[in-house]
Amino acid sequence: ATEAEEKDLVIIGGGVAGYVAAIKAGQEGLKVACIEKRGTLGGTCLNVGCIPSKSLLNNSHLYHTIMHDTKNRGIEVGDVKLNLAQLMNAKDTSVSGLTKGVEFLFKKNGVEYIKGTGSFASEHEIKVQLNDGGETSVVGKNILIATGSEATPFPGLEIDEKKVVTSTGALALEKVPEKMVVIGGGIIGLEMASVWSRLGAKVTVVEFLNQIGGPGMDTEIAKQAQKILKKQGIEFKLSTKVVSGDGSGEKVKLDIDAAKGGKAETMEADVVLVAIGRRPYTAGLGLENIGMELDERGRVIIDQEYRTKFPHIRCVGDVTFGPMLAHKAEEEAVAVVEYIKKGYGHVNYGCIPSVMYTYPEVAWVGQSEQDLKKAGTPYRIGTFPFSANSRAKTNLDTDGMVKMIADPETDRLLGVHIIGANAGEMIAEGTLALEYGASSEDIARTCHAHPTLAEAFKEAAMATYSKAIHF
Ligand code: FAD
Ligand code: NAI
Repeated sequence: ATEAEEKDLVIIGGGVAGYVAAIKAGQEGLKVACIEKRGTLGGTCLNVGCIPSKSLLNNSHLYHTIMHDTKNRGIEVGDVKLNLAQLMNAKDTSVSGLTKGVEFLFKKNGVEYIKGTGSFASEHEIKVQLNDGGETSVVGKNILIATGSEATPFPGLEIDEKKVVTSTGALALEKVPEKMVVIGGGIIGLEMASVWSRLGAKVTVVEFLNQIGGPGMDTEIAKQAQKILKKQGIEFKLSTKVVSGDGSGEKVKLDIDAAKGGKAETMEADVVLVAIGRRPYTAGLGLENIGMELDERGRVIIDQEYRTKFPHIRCVGDVTFGPMLAHKAEEEAVAVVEYIKKGYGHVNYGCIPSVMYTYPEVAWVGQSEQDLKKAGTPYRIGTFPFSANSRAKTNLDTDGMVKMIADPETDRLLGVHIIGANAGEMIAEGTLALEYGASSEDIARTCHAHPTLAEAFKEAAMATYSKAIHF
């Protein structure tokens, strides 16, 4: 490559990690190129993850509410029909609007967008197989690997994205299945189970552990969530493992085994969703050409400044350590560009919120009660139920609670766990408090507007070091 073609930063992957790093690098005046093979920017999150799932969750919730929860509110509705094709169109419109928005931001910030598959030719040179045919190459002083993750397959059960689907197929089913089985009661499993159950499918979630919600969710909250989701019609088989499956017939067959003794049985479904986790994606990246190692789970190994064993090659997002979350990828993307440009950056990994966008939502930040118990850390808990919150009562939306955990000596906040209608928005306050090292009393003495759901947050804080007023 000639001198003119050398970039300050070449990014492989245009997902949240890659595109945010590209924009930030452009803003910092770096000469930057971003290689993405999908044909659109935004990665898993915008194309087949966060965004389309939230569109389906929002609109299926509206549909379900109109079908089942209007009469007692004094609203009589007539003939309600589901138009699944239009529901999917609405989702596609949100996705394309956002992915094009990122492309616009690339232009605005002088990012060169290369549509193709990148692979290492050498430690500084990336060969690109262009989507439109042909090949090019680009040389970078710095290189950022941001190639993300993919669904972990279930051994022996072939994914066709029609009958046996990952989340990608579950976001685009052409009709509502009569029976759906979800393997894995983590966040993907529960969000997708909610969507299709609300639209009329009979959904069973099979989970290996004795708790839903995947890693990190507070056990007390997970139990409440399960109870509420069950009331909505989702069935659960916990402590149960899918051992094998067969998708060759008209129905998909699954052999399941109770993890702790119990009876083995066979389940049948029209659609099976495999949601047993995601794994780092590095296929076709040519890491072997430069002798880059992965850890035992396929993650690119990095140090605290996101450097691989080659200091000019860094890595962020789902393809490396940490929770596979879009906002985590985004924080890292900003920090990594700051390291490259200024030599310092920072992400507080103890303070990354998680949200499950079921109804009600479940959101948390910091440590769970079971984490603290396991570590032998002393703690004090304050809770407040939404059934005692005035706004939740006026909204006829009283399921759930706020649970706050603080240090019994210093009152410093250790964790916040919310299940409730607006938990995903409300957790921002907990995250800020945790980031600032607040005590529960700091929160309780902050005036909260009335009547809001956020008052439940304030009262849970009061209950942590003293007593709540309304409960
Ligand atoms: P990705 O988004 O996977 O992006 C990597 C990109 O790199 C891809 O577009 C890929 O095409 C490209 N690529 C890979 N290899 C190459 C190559 N060699 N050359 C060129 N391009 C390449 N997270 C949340 O925080 N909130 C949510 O609500 C949420 N919902 C989700 C719902 C679903 C159904 C799924 C599957 C995930 C969800 N996530 C959510 C997780 C979130 O999508 C990921 O954490 C996030 O996308 C990670 O960003 P990333 O940039 O690291 O990887
Ligand atoms: P997950 O790791 O959260 O959950 C997978 C579940 O499957 C676990 O509970 C596990 O015990 C279970 N499991 C594994 N093998 C099994 C078997 N053979 N039989 C029965 N159960 C089995 O993974 P998930 O839900 O696939 O999500 C992947 C990633 O995507 C997560 O890391 C999550 O952070 C991210 N994501 C985030 C969302 C959000 O923030 N709202 C939404 C969707 C995904």
